[in-house]
Amino acid sequence: MDMTRRHLLGFTALGLAGLGVAGCSSIPGLGGNEGGGDALARPVDGARTLIAYFSLPLTDDPENMNRDEENSTHVVDGKVLGNTQHVAQIIQARTGAELFRIETAQPLPLDFPVLEKQALQEQESDARPELKALVSNLDDYDTVFVGYPIYWYDMPMPLYTFLERHEFGGKTIIPFTTHGGSRLSGTVEKIAEKLGDATVVDNAFTISRDDMDSAEDEVGAWLDSLGVTAG
Ligand SMILES: Cc1cc2nc3c(=O)[nH]c(=O)nc-3n(C[C@H](O)[C@H](O)[C@H](O)COP(=O)(O)O)c2cc1C
Repeated sequence: MDMTRRHLLGFTALGLAGLGVAGCSSIPGLGGNEGGGDALARPVDGARTLIAYFSLPLTDDPENMNRDEENSTHVVDGKVLGNTQHVAQIIQARTGAELFRIETAQPLPLDFPVLEKQALQEQESDARPELKALVSNLDDYDTVFVGYPIYWYDMPMPLYTFLERHEFGGKTIIPFTTHGGSRLSGTVEKIAEKLGDATVVDNAFTISRDDMDSAEDEVGAWLDSLGVTAG
């Protein structure tokens, strides 16, 4: 596809490529939260678990949102959350794990067309945007949930920075995504390829931005399928 002419009108077609198993370092299974999926090889200990996520709500004002702002947010008790942030918080409530928000050193534009263009440029140039902070105590965790929205049928480029700037050897990585139609979009396989010495769970979670009202139930069912019990 001519990258300069790519656009985001139809997420679904390329998104189908996202279904399937992850790479050789993953636990074999159906992949994705729609097919049942395998439980974890070892139980999750909330105290040794981190939930690292990237999420970019395009507004913090719950009133008078435009369509792009609505698409990127979920409002809980009057508070505006990003979609992925909402999922991360549900996982946190269920597991008692620590939350870490992945943020870029340079704030990203909150105007959708500008963000869309910048995200594509970053992807095309294989950029590694600097992060505001790294996880200083990653050794304290043996399980890391990694959450992100799908950007241009892939992970946002700050996720690549995050994965490359930390040492995940020996850890269990559990991906989750929110999306506008592309589902996991092949990203679990990419993480597994990148983190060859970690175990990347291919029973990853994905939920559409249009289904955020049922996120609580869906995340709960997925965590049950992984064998993760409340912390
Ligand atoms: C720059 C940009 C690119 C996007 N590209 C895709 C895409 O390729 N496929 C898709 O399904 N959704 C895409 N989306 C939609 C987001 O994945 C979706 O709105 C997500 O829930 C946003 O999560 P957040 O609120 O946690 O940031 C894109 C959104 C943005 C801002």
